[in-house]
Amino acid sequence: MAVKDPRYSPPMRAAHITALEGPDAIEVVELPDPTPAKGQVVVAVESAGLNFPDLLMTRGLYQMRPRVPFAPGGEIAGTVVAAGPDAAFERGDRVMALTGWGGFATHVLVGSERCVRIPETMPTDLAGAFAFTYATGYHALVDRGALAAGETVLVLGAAGGVGSAAIELSVALGAKVVAAASSADKLAFCAELGAAHGIDTSHEDLKVRAKRLSGGSVDVVYDPVGGEQADAALRTLGPGGRHLVIGFASGTIPRVPWNLALLKQCSIVGVAWGAWALANPLRHASNMQALFELHAKGALRPRITARHGLDEVGKALRAMEARQVMGKVIIEPSR
Ligand SMILES: NC(=O)c1ccc[n+]([C@@H]2O[C@H](COP(=O)([O-])OP(=O)(O)OC[C@H]3O[C@@H](n4cnc5c(N)ncnc54)[C@H](OP(=O)(O)O)[C@@H]3O)[C@@H](O)[C@H]2O)c1
Repeated sequence: MAVKDPRYSPPMRAAHITALEGPDAIEVVELPDPTPAKGQVVVAVESAGLNFPDLLMTRGLYQMRPRVPFAPGGEIAGTVVAAGPDAAFERGDRVMALTGWGGFATHVLVGSERCVRIPETMPTDLAGAFAFTYATGYHALVDRGALAAGETVLVLGAAGGVGSAAIELSVALGAKVVAAASSADKLAFCAELGAAHGIDTSHEDLKVRAKRLSGGSVDVVYDPVGGEQADAALRTLGPGGRHLVIGFASGTIPRVPWNLALLKQCSIVGVAWGAWALANPLRHASNMQALFELHAKGALRPRITARHGLDEVGKALRAMEARQVMGKVIIEPSR
């Protein structure tokens, strides 16, 4: 799918954070057109995926703390509209890019080494909602978790962006998924993605139910939530189990009694996909290729559940903060 207006048409607009006070401090501003330097490209953004780190950045709570004002938005997809000398892409190329921030804008200036060509089979809107969650999931489950076919994965926050990608990937890798989420609607969504079982964390005992549904113990916990759920989930692991520490959407970093790792004979495995991808570009590229192949085969079907223009970035972030988001939300700056 091509962008509606692939011309490099000023003025550039961006949804800026004007103070580290959360989604209410977002303002859409006009900016001078970016000019690409050596190795850089300007991408006309068609789709920018919304991710939890964008929300954390609006309050200065993420490890990356750009200077205010800045536009959040860590992943984009669109068309190259200008290229500097020695850039790896040229005008008209369809690319997706991991930007860190700056993606909630009509145009993004980015180093071409951060861009990947979008496969022919993938629409651009979907490409803007693909890399962050699936690449995290692939690195976590394959590189860090060594997930094997036939194993059981307990996915926390399973209806969210990272969680829903983990369900699909686990199923694609031959594992059985027990999904944990906070409502019946969210669990129905997880079942549609391939989860074999669901636990409603609003009123069910996570540890008891996960053990029962997995036939005794779980092999891998996929944990983007932290807090009390992390503690309960760790206790469901059997010998050789792996608890993948993805994030702390609950806002609480759990304090683990170390004797549990001994008693359970389990591993607590940290996952920092962004830092790993920057340090290991070739392995990251190979993971992206594997993900593109899974998508082409139909094994991964990212669910875009809401689309917003730049004027609604604050609204989209507030919905994420209120746990109302299922699957992926995208910002379409040209709306
Ligand atoms: N380590 C890495 O490499 C890496 C990479 C990408 C993202 N992450 C992290 O992964 C986490 C999830 O990101 P995401 O984009 O999937 O976010 P998301 O779409 O908002 O999903 C987060 C889920 O967490 C659950 N949750 C529990 N308590 C919550 C609370 N107090 N506030 C908000 N959500 C709460 C919600 O599910 P229920 O309502 O069903 O409980 C929600 O669906 C974030 O912490 C992010 O920073 C880490």
